[in-house]
Formats: sequence, structure tokens, C-alpha cells
Amino acid sequence: MAATKPPSIVKPRDNIVITAALPYANGPIHIGHLLEYIQADIYSRFLKLTGKNALYICASDMHGTPIEVNARKVGKEPEKFALEFWKEHQVDFSNYLIKFDNYYQTHSSENKELAEYFYHTLKQKKLIYRKKVQVIYCPHCQRYLPDRYVKGTCPHCGAQDQYGDICEKCNKALKGTNLISPSCSLCGNQPIQKESEHYFFRLSTFSAPLKAWFNNPDSGIQPEVRNWLKEWINKGLEDWCVSRDAPYFGFEIPDSKRETGEKKYFYVWLDAPIGYISSTQNYCAAHKLKWEDYWRKGQVYHFIGKDIAYFHFLFWPAMLMAVEIPLPKLTVHGFITVNGGKMSKSRGTFFTAKDFLKLYSPEALRFYYAAHLDRKLIDVDLNFEDFKSAINTVLVGNLGNFCYRVLTFAEKNYGGVKEIAAEKGIILEMKTQIKEINKNYSEMDFKSAVKNILNLSDIGNAYFQKSEPWKSKDDKNTKAAVGLCINIARDLAVMVSPILPKFSVEVFAACGEKKEKISWKEVGFTWKGRLSPVRILVEKIEKLPLAVKFPLHMVVGKITGVKNHPHADSLYLMKVDFGTWGKRQAVAGLKKYLSPEQLLNKKAIFVINLKPAKLRGEMSEAMVLAADDKVKVVPLLAEKSAVGEEVCFGDMDNSTQEITFEEFQKLRMDVLKGRVIYQEKKLKSKVEEILIPNVKEGAQVR
Ligand code: MSP
Ligand code: ZN
Repeated sequence: MAATKPPSIVKPRDNIVITAALPYANGPIHIGHLLEYIQADIYSRFLKLTGKNALYICASDMHGTPIEVNARKVGKEPEKFALEFWKEHQVDFSNYLIKFDNYYQTHSSENKELAEYFYHTLKQKKLIYRKKVQVIYCPHCQRYLPDRYVKGTCPHCGAQDQYGDICEKCNKALKGTNLISPSCSLCGNQPIQKESEHYFFRLSTFSAPLKAWFNNPDSGIQPEVRNWLKEWINKGLEDWCVSRDAPYFGFEIPDSKRETGEKKYFYVWLDAPIGYISSTQNYCAAHKLKWEDYWRKGQVYHFIGKDIAYFHFLFWPAMLMAVEIPLPKLTVHGFITVNGGKMSKSRGTFFTAKDFLKLYSPEALRFYYAAHLDRKLIDVDLNFEDFKSAINTVLVGNLGNFCYRVLTFAEKNYGGVKEIAAEKGIILEMKTQIKEINKNYSEMDFKSAVKNILNLSDIGNAYFQKSEPWKSKDDKNTKAAVGLCINIARDLAVMVSPILPKFSVEVFAACGEKKEKISWKEVGFTWKGRLSPVRILVEKIEKLPLAVKFPLHMVVGKITGVKNHPHADSLYLMKVDFGTWGKRQAVAGLKKYLSPEQLLNKKAIFVINLKPAKLRGEMSEAMVLAADDKVKVVPLLAEKSAVGEEVCFGDMDNSTQEITFEEFQKLRMDVLKGRVIYQEKKLKSKVEEILIPNVKEGAQVR
């Protein structure tokens, strides 16, 4: 067996390659993908801004069964099908100002050649062997089923309905054959197992060097990922099957027909990461450069999502070690959720890149994502309320407003900058922050970069305000104060340019400069020159895409009868009249707190969309809402409102969709200053605000 060299980690050199995962050419780009392409784009733009020789490299991932199956479904050749997405994705990326130096394809001659080079090297080093294995075959579809096309229960964690390639619950790589109770995801029938000869990569021999790699602090691996790796390796690495049976869209494995009697193809995950290199190679060939100068002598940074960590931290580094290419640095990000949940078409929270662009500007999304990205591996929630306030109050209200205001003022009144105030205090403070911002970006902590940029714009805003230049426009000091403000605006434009490239171009245009390339070196306090009228820099958000509904259907009901529950000491059975919503029985745990007389004929607020449930043998079809301060429990009353009237939080409509008790329990409604509050909105009916006196501040409504 070949001895594998310990991994080498190169220090950052002049030649830098940045990659984002190669998206499958199999469907539209959505706002989840964009998190990664924007994250890597910001880093790439920052490096270029600071004079580094960085390439942002990507490509379409074109191989594999899903593409082949989906292409057939629409009657296209897989290659043509993939090429259409290759084109479409590039339009999306450019609309979001994501600027690749090269966006290539994995179904290319360069990639084929490189994949074969990797394969031959592995073979030569005796890291590849053949073995007959059981594979899954669907007799109904008459095809071998790749792991992704078998569904069943994960053998590691027991999660149901998992695809056979990777468990989305425990993130472990799987094999279709070890799924429990498998079914064919194309036709639903039960597949059979067959024998087939396949090629395996000796991943198991890499445990020690992989361990050495991730234990080396220079590898820069995030702590969360390091823990996964430890777990995976300690469990023992299995060798990796790198071949697939026909029909398959991919590269044929050299000599496979001769060796096994059948054509075999490289598994898509073998040639996909090689696509990072072949896309670099394709770029280099066009620019008279050598890819080796980047991959062997420079530094490579990969940005990936947490779902593909297994491939990038085990298979890929092992392959790279085998061909003696230094290991890259990886940054893993979490997933995008929308309004707190997984993106979902049925809930209207799945946005393609194109759909989102119909509603908002690309820089709004870039800003929001940047403000949430540091190097921590956490999911990022795109909450539309937050999004709106981040754009309107922070981006437009602070940064945009400052730049727009000072540029407009100076252009209108002076036409340019001739003097700059020597405000030592402000300039010194700024210089410190500017250094900090540079450091934030280098550490991929864009969240802090945004925070610090906004701090600077606050300082600028306060200084402009204090100088009151509109009061004595022609005063020499005033002019100089405005001159300093223009310099600050220009500095902000430089520093924010990795995140908001268009914004920066506009600020520079207002300074009379058409810049192809902005440089961090422009940051300073000495710029003088003529100004042009500034165009709109950023726009406010008017609408949210979804009318966010409150999940409870809350209605005023009149209690027309109260009696003891026959089988439970603490419960009442109540008859409640909901007017147009009918009459219902409600079981309520109020016996400890109130007598039947105190409840009878009262108008109280009930939830009428909870899944009806039997409580100790009695049906409950409505639930009274009550404030609980741990001493008392007080029902919410609405005496002035009509029976059957809805009560709502502010302008939020109630949802009438049935919800479960578990979902109900997750909601948090508080009593603050005698009112019931949800997300800063007050509970009210058409005629009254719901008041709840005599309970302690912070009581919970349930
Ligand atoms: N083709 C593979 C990658 C091969 S890299 C050699 C792939 N493609 S993908 O289109 O499914 O995903 C591309 C990237 O987008 C992945 O890094 C993935 O984690 C990321 N995301 C896909 N959905 C996402 C979210 N909802 N949120 C954040 N990132 C997401 O995997
Ligand atoms: Zn089938």
C-alpha cells in the first residue's frame, strides 16, 4: 500500500483561488444557494480590493443521475439540459453582482483529463481496487438505482424518509443498500439487490493524515466541523465507491469495460471537486497562466454548505493528498431558513433568485446576508420583518442617508471639495476602525465589518449634524467640515464595496470618477475634486412578500354553561357560543382559580383552530386564552366586543388553519403594561384593546 505523505498546508501566497460549491445544473438558483455565492464573492472582492491576486472560480456540476433522469423526463439530452442551466445560472449570478473570474463546466475536456489523471495516480499508488458488491436495481424501472434514488430509514440515526446518499439528519454519508426498508423513488416499488463489480478508493488509509490535518490549528477548520470530523474518523472510515453503472451521465472509467465486462462511470462526486481545478485550468489557459501556480504554490479557499462537508473534508482532501496537491482552507456555512422555517413552496417561502429579484434589489440581499455572516456555522434566517428593518433603518437610514445627504449638499452648494477639516479626533478614531474593518474582512467576519462600517457612518452623520452647514453655507469652516464628510462617504464606499459594489460605483461616480477597479488604498482624508449629482444609492423596501399570519384563530365566545369535568378535579366543561362560528364545548383548567359563577355569561377569547382533543374523555373544541403569572391564571375577557368577533395582534390576520398543541406551545405572548403583546403588537378586537389588569408584568398567555 502506498504511503501517504503528511498533508502540507501552504501559507497564504500571492496566488489565491476562491471557490464556491459547483451548483448542480439541474434546477434554478434560489436564495439559499445565494448565501454561499455572495459570501465567497464578498471575500473575493475584498481580496481584490486589497491588491491580492485572487481568482473567483466556479462551474456547473453537470454529472450524475438526477440530471440524467430529469433531462430524459423533458426529452432532452443530459448535456443540452445541463448547458441550459449553465447559461441561466450565470445570468442569475451576474444579476446579484456575483462576479466569477471563470464559470466553467464539469462536463468538459479539461475535467475529463484531470479526472483521469487523478484516477491513474490513485491507481498507480494502489489506492484503487475492484470489488463485487450488492447494488440496488429496480426491476420496474429496469435500472440501477443510485443512492439518491432509494429512500428509506437511516441506519445510523433512525431518521425516516432519507435518501440513500447522505442523511440530512445526522449528515453521514450513506449507501442505498444499508437503508432500512428501501423503496425506488422513481416508481415507489421495492427494489432488489444485484451483484456488480465496482471501483473503490482506499479512504481508510487516510485516517491518520486527515486527523493530522484537522488537528493542525493552521488548517483553520471551524470548531463545529472539527467535531464532526473527529466523530466520523473515530467511527472508522470506509472505502469509497467511486464508480457507477450505466445509464449514467458522467465520464467513462478508462479500461472499465475490459476490467469488469461492463462500462462504468466515475461517480459525480469524484469529478465534481476536480471541477474546481479544471475551471481554474480553463481560466489559466485563456490568460497564459499555469493552474499549478495557484493550486500547488498558492492558496485555495473553498466555501461550502454544511450538507456537503463530508465530501469536502474527507474524500476531497484524501484525493488531493494522493496527487500531492496542498490542502485548501474551507469555510462551511449553515442553511438559509425563511421566517424561521425551512424554505417551502407550499408555505410561499421558497424564492428562486429570479422571483426574489422581482421584489427586491440584489444589494438588499447582499447587505442582509453580509450582516449575518461570520465564520460561525449557524443557519441564517431570512426573516422578512428583520430584512425590511435592516434595509430601511440601517442600510437606507444610516449608510445610504449619510452618503446621499453629504454628496447632494456639497454638490448643490459648492460643486466640489476644496477644503477638508483637520478634525484630528475623528480622523484618528476612523483610522482605528478602518484597520479593524480590514481585519474583519480578512477573517471572513462580514457581520463585524458591517457593524463597524455603520459605526463610521454614524460618526459621519453626527459630525455633519453638529456642523450644521445649512446654517452658514459659505463659512470656510463649514465648507471644510463638508469636505471631510465627503471624504468619509468616499471611504465608506471603498470599504463597503465588497458587499455593495453598485452602491460604491455610484458614490465614486458622484465624485466624478468612473472606476473599473476601486482600491482599499483610496481610503484616506485628503480627496479633493469636483462633484457630480448623485444618483439614488439604495432604495427603501415598501412591501413584505408574505402577509404574515398569526397562527391562532382567536374569537370572542360567550360562556353559556360551566360544570365540573366528570373525571378531572382541576377541569371545567364549558359551553361556549361563538355566534357565526357555532357553539362548542371547551375543557379549561380554571377550577383552581375561578368559580363557575365568575365565568358564566362572560365574553372571553378562545382559540378555535386547535386540533380538537379529548381531555380525560371529554371533547375540547376550543381553548380559552388566559394570562398566567405563576400565582394567578386570568382568562382574557372582551366584554365590549360582539360574540363571534375576531381578535388580532395589530394588523396581523389570524390564520384559520388547524394547528397542533405542540405548535401552539411554541408561541410566546406576553403581558406587558396590562396588555397582551406578540412581536410588539397589541391584542385587540374591532372595538377594544384587550386589557389584562392585576397580573404581574411579563405573565405568559397560554
Ligand atoms: N453540486 C454539489 C456541489 C459540488 S462541489 C464540488 C451541490 N450542489 S447544490 O446546487 O446542491 O448546492 C450548491 C451549494 O449551495 C452547496 O454548498 C449547498 O450547501 C448550498 N445550498 C443549497 N441550499 C442551501 C440553503 N438553503 N442555504 C444555504 N446554502 C444552500 O451540492
Ligand atoms: Zn423504480
